[in-house]
Amino acid sequence: MALSRRAAELRPSATLAISAKANAMKAQGMDVLSLSAGEPDFDTPEHIKAAAGDAMKAGFTKYTPASGIVELKTAVAAHARKTQGLEYEPKQVVISVGAKHAIANALFALVNDGDEVLIPAPFWVSYPAMAKLYGGVPRIIYTDGTAVLWDPDSAHLTPVEAGYKLTPAVLRKGLNAKTKVVILNAPSNPTGIVYTPEELAALAVVLREFPGAWVISDEIYDCLVYAGIAKSLAAVAPDLKDRIIVINGVSKTFAMTGWRIGWALGPAAIIAAMGDYQSQTTSNPTSIAQKAALAALTGPQDSVATMHAEFAKRRILIADGLNAIPGFRCAPADGAFYVFPDVRGLAAMPAVLRALKMDPAKGTKGFSGALTTHFLESAKVAMVPGAEFGLECHLRMSFATSPAVITKAVARLAESVSALTKG
Ligand SMILES: Cc1ncc(COP(=O)(O)O)c(C=O)c1O
Repeated sequence: MALSRRAAELRPSATLAISAKANAMKAQGMDVLSLSAGEPDFDTPEHIKAAAGDAMKAGFTKYTPASGIVELKTAVAAHARKTQGLEYEPKQVVISVGAKHAIANALFALVNDGDEVLIPAPFWVSYPAMAKLYGGVPRIIYTDGTAVLWDPDSAHLTPVEAGYKLTPAVLRKGLNAKTKVVILNAPSNPTGIVYTPEELAALAVVLREFPGAWVISDEIYDCLVYAGIAKSLAAVAPDLKDRIIVINGVSKTFAMTGWRIGWALGPAAIIAAMGDYQSQTTSNPTSIAQKAALAALTGPQDSVATMHAEFAKRRILIADGLNAIPGFRCAPADGAFYVFPDVRGLAAMPAVLRALKMDPAKGTKGFSGALTTHFLESAKVAMVPGAEFGLECHLRMSFATSPAVITKAVARLAESVSALTKG
């Protein structure tokens, strides 16, 4: 086979693959309700689109500096100051092709072959695969303190009382002398958890004990918080700022997923290395999209507030709806736009296991995958198995979709579960 080892090992992103499958079913005329995609259902605000149009008309259609235009870097720094009280100079900002690209490039800049990359579970699907692509060894730390090397075919199930938040004691169990990077993500995809500043400060105490470990702090959802406040780790622990890379972007906050603009903030030397890498690989993020992102950050913010208010209503709608279904336990998300219901109640029902053709002797392995396939095929509701995020017996559903779709999806799931539990 001509494929390189790295290419051969790589699997496509599960969330994108499931969205593609749901879209293909829709294209065949099936009435599929999609709760799988991680993108706002709102259109990009008009003034942002207009800025892109203006850029095109003005001929702003050529290469820009590979690490992004200085106006946008300045606006990003101002945004970090306004939202998080963080101080960065433009040379500490790199503009990338979405936050995903920024995370990948940060891993490139930091990780040597064999370095460990510590990833708390449940995790955003791309972190372990990206760490591996850059020669890192992804180590997963579960909230019950179990630390394992990443295996894409094996997801654990933690006790309910362990919750979804990393504690200092658990973080300490995952770190060792080989840890080069810890990837933190709050508000979290998939759970929607948000750490309090006190909780972050307690994690920082442990990070201080491991001076060789950097932190990639993925704060892409920091403007989508409904309960509590999402402080940046760099703001809570300024003494660690010289080994923290803060990741953010316009995709989620401004409904701009397709524009592909994200960024990293951090020490100038690492940021410069990320820019150099871009100069040898992608070159600049799209010139026109950079102007659109500039308008997003510097223009009116009322559409952000409108979208936020809408998500805040939907988080309750979906959690209440799912909690009324037997076998589901769902906390409303404190941030981001996902719920991560625990369905171990369903996995404990013999009739459900029989209907899904699962062998009870094999435990819960594969349960979330079998259940999501069943829900997609029988109820025409698309979602992502928790196993893709490292945790079995959970489902990830996005509520970045209309209340009508959420209500209909919940009703279909209730009906499907009722049929399943009757065997
Ligand atoms: C936690 C997290 N980080 C990063 C990203 C990537 O964002 P972008 O579209 O800007 O690449 C996503 C998108 O789903 C995400 O959920």
